Amino acid sequence: MVNYRIRGFNPETDIEAVQNINRKCLPENYPQFFFTDIYDKFPEGFNVAQIEETGEIAGYGMTRLEKGLSNFGFGICKKGHIISIAVLPSFRRLGVANKLMAAASSAMRLRDIKEVYLEVRESNQAAINLYQNLGYISHKLSKKYYSDGETALIMISKI
Ligand SMILES: CC(C)(COP(=O)(O)OP(=O)(O)OC[C@H]1O[C@@H](n2cnc3c(N)ncnc32)[C@H](O)[C@@H]1OP(=O)(O)O)[C@@H](O)C(=O)NCCC(=O)NCCS
Repeated sequence: MVNYRIRGFNPETDIEAVQNINRKCLPENYPQFFFTDIYDKFPEGFNVAQIEETGEIAGYGMTRLEKGLSNFGFGICKKGHIISIAVLPSFRRLGVANKLMAAASSAMRLRDIKEVYLEVRESNQAAINLYQNLGYISHKLSKKYYSDGETALIMISKI
């Protein structure tokens, strides 16, 4: 049995582990300042999963607060954007991503966010299942969204 806890990202101690997970798990990689910038703008929306026994960081989820056209109502509103979430292969199917998504939603609700969106590769069925089970619905496709030409599925949810 693996025990882990979800806690806030600490830019001083977690940045390398998070960048490493990002490189191992996703083709979309970012320089360090991208992570710290996301953190600076909305610290509570950036969380990690830490293994209790070893202290290892098993996954992260980071979010941004934006303004844009509402997908559910009319006019401009504040929206949450799930920027990136990943869990190391050896810690998958333990509910880590579910808990990171829950932490992100709680943080966004505290900032009075009522709706959220994300992009996911249309071939990434594991992630699509994760989001669908949390109530996200398919909104539209964004062709050639990714640098390798793959289409993104935009998914949205009220929170
Ligand atoms: C997608 C990802 C974040 C899921 O992380 P995880 O911690 O294993 O997810 P959870 O254990 O919380 O699973 C929650 C639900 O997601 C779905 N899911 C997760 N992995 C799945 C898989 N390999 N196949 C099918 N469904 C899957 C299931 O519905 C699962 O619920 P269940 O275990 O009760 O069936 C992880 O596989 C990952 O890091 N993938 C690479 C990075 C990535 O694709 N990030 C998302 C980019 S948009």
